[in-house]
Amino acid sequence: MTMSILEIGGVKATALADQFKTPLYVYDQQHIEQTLATFVDRFKSTQFSTQIIYASKAFQAIYLLNLVAEYGLGLDVVTGGELFVATQSNMPRNRIYFHGNNKSLEELDLAFKWGVQHIICDNVMELEVIGQLAQKYQQEMNIMLRLNVGIEAHTHEYIITSHIDSKFGFAWESEECRKCLDLLANNPYLKLEGIHSHIGSQIFDLTAWYASIDKLVTYLKAFNEPLVLNIGGGFGIQYTAADQPLDLGESLTSLISYVEKALAEQQVTISKLMIEPGRSLVGNAGSTLYTVGYQKQTPEKLYYFVDGGMSDNLRPSLYQAKYACDIANRMDAPKTEKVTVAGKCCESGDILIEACLLPVASQGDLLVTYATGAYGYSMSNQYNKNVTPAVVFVKDGIAHEVIRRQTFEDLLHYEVTEKKKRGFKNDV
Ligand code: LLP
Repeated sequence: MTMSILEIGGVKATALADQFKTPLYVYDQQHIEQTLATFVDRFKSTQFSTQIIYASKAFQAIYLLNLVAEYGLGLDVVTGGELFVATQSNMPRNRIYFHGNNKSLEELDLAFKWGVQHIICDNVMELEVIGQLAQKYQQEMNIMLRLNVGIEAHTHEYIITSHIDSKFGFAWESEECRKCLDLLANNPYLKLEGIHSHIGSQIFDLTAWYASIDKLVTYLKAFNEPLVLNIGGGFGIQYTAADQPLDLGESLTSLISYVEKALAEQQVTISKLMIEPGRSLVGNAGSTLYTVGYQKQTPEKLYYFVDGGMSDNLRPSLYQAKYACDIANRMDAPKTEKVTVAGKCCESGDILIEACLLPVASQGDLLVTYATGAYGYSMSNQYNKNVTPAVVFVKDGIAHEVIRRQTFEDLLHYEVTEKKKRGFKNDV
């Protein structure tokens, strides 16, 4: 009997698992490139210039950042670490935007030293520090104000960032905002570049975005010169059949038209419109391959245990996020079993998928979960000293190893005392 095996980028999942072991993050490079092209083609206006910056928290690897830079996108980074990785890629420094609500003095200092030209200011205390550094280095810095427009995109509570008591940003009407504008007016090295707002993630309905655009455009009336308007990220993706995201190209066109209309109505001009997609750029391009281990039948449930779990995909345990899966080496087998896919971490909540339909599986079968390309690897952890899987990009039948799988030795990499005292014994 021939068995149908899942192929990603022209390579069989079984071959990928053999070569790179499981768990394994696999990215379909063509998918990413198509999405990049859609963003670039559709986020355009005849009335203002546009810039797309990739929210690299979704997934950072130099190989990907180089690809993103090639398509002309910029980059959103939120820590010194993300900034450092960005500087090691081909991303031009002047396309890096430094976000974050608590950037330290050290991180901001590095931003100046490493030639970052855009900082998104999250609060007034931060702006004071940026102002002092700009004066010290006698270096201009473009500042975007992160405004909290008080609009919530209807998504899961944990990933809503713009409600009024949010730790991010400040309200236009607030004392905090007035103080920021004063600081900007009185420091010749600080240049107000524009305003920014991010209303949430996994957005399926553009109306919340439209409401935020209306507000932001109203705020822009207060300025004499055209500024940059950055409307954040948040395009929803399909995790399971229950998710019905909007067509990306159509959403981009609709957003552009809406901004054009709002600007015309309120008689405001902008110098540039920006968006910062993360999940939508890489989420659906990524899958995770696992090997099925033991199985267990309880009175209510049939468990398939896999060789990863919340250490490589934290989203189900953290957000009750839902995923779809298949047995990758028998794609055509009838799905007769109602299964709970559980990880191997020592934690009852380490369930990757509750109640999905799968074929009868055997030990050694490959299980694939889809849409793990965003916030999968980037939120991975070494709970229970599970090694972090490799990341491969596959295109035209060729698999390119982008991040290697950790080894047990890597798990001791940061141990100082024991390693010095005993030396590392490979053969235990
Ligand atoms: N811009 C800002 C200021 C953001 O805070 C975020 C995401 C983005 C852009 C990109 O949003 P996206 O297009 O990826 O939705 N760990 C969560 C998501 C946290 C999102 C945080 N901010 C998850 O796994 O769902």
